[in-house]
Amino acid sequence: MTPAGAPAHVAIIMDGNGRWASARGLPRFEGHRRGVEALRRTVRASIDLGIRYLTVFSFSSENWRRPPQEIGDLMGLLKRFIRNDLAQLHASGVRVRILGSRQRLSSEIDGLLTEAENLTRDNTGLTLVVAFNYGSRAEIVQAAQRLALEVAAGRLPPEAITEEAFSARLGTADIPDPDLVIRTSGEMRLSNFLMWQSAYSEFVFTPCLWPDFDRPALEAAIAEFHGRDRRYGGLSRAGAVSGAVS
Ligand code: IPE
Ligand code: IPE
Ligand code: MG
Repeated sequence: MTPAGAPAHVAIIMDGNGRWASARGLPRFEGHRRGVEALRRTVRASIDLGIRYLTVFSFSSENWRRPPQEIGDLMGLLKRFIRNDLAQLHASGVRVRILGSRQRLSSEIDGLLTEAENLTRDNTGLTLVVAFNYGSRAEIVQAAQRLALEVAAGRLPPEAITEEAFSARLGTADIPDPDLVIRTSGEMRLSNFLMWQSAYSEFVFTPCLWPDFDRPALEAAIAEFHGRDRRYGGLSRAGAVSGAVS
């Protein structure tokens, strides 16, 4: 938790762009375009609220199953987002981190993602983690491969494979686990997002479709988070007290 009371790390599964567009008789692209506007609003609100890390699920490793036209649209929007918004993000002190595989991405997108990370590397404001071409299982398998290679090379004894050593080989190595995971659009599943990292996250599922998401929606999710009792397998404060006196 930050001093301001906001969770330190909020992760969002930005879902429902297509349904937002369909409900208005618009092409899915329009939903994705408005989704980028919701992202801008959410980044600004996160800075204002004192959130330290905002992770957004932008494109999953399974989203390649979509029609080529839609994939092209999503790639185009990412390019436009970085080209149009990078300078402003940098000016706001945002540090951009990219999570996911660079395989299958065009060299143009690869270059833009690297540029965004490099330009903002030393910023100390909000860390915006963009999960793009990301899949949690692939990330976990890659961490296992890294450990196996180190063991096989004799650089790591097998007993040194601890939870910390495993975490350190994930794409999120130096990023704290999310306190709050929000999924918009009413779906209640992780869809291969941060499965290791969300072991003790609080989940808020909202029917709000992503293009409609805004600061009040973020504040409502945070308020719900504050009403939760994070026990981490132990006892709640109230339970611990009554346990002590009985
Ligand atoms: C989220 O909206 C954006 C991505 C997954 C890239 P969707 O495109 O999944 O929208 P719905 O779920 O079809 O409404
Ligand atoms: C999850 O949404 C991925 C992103 C938001 C980028 P999907 O719309 O792809 O998930 P499913 O297919 O409904 O599980
Ligand atoms: Mg969806």
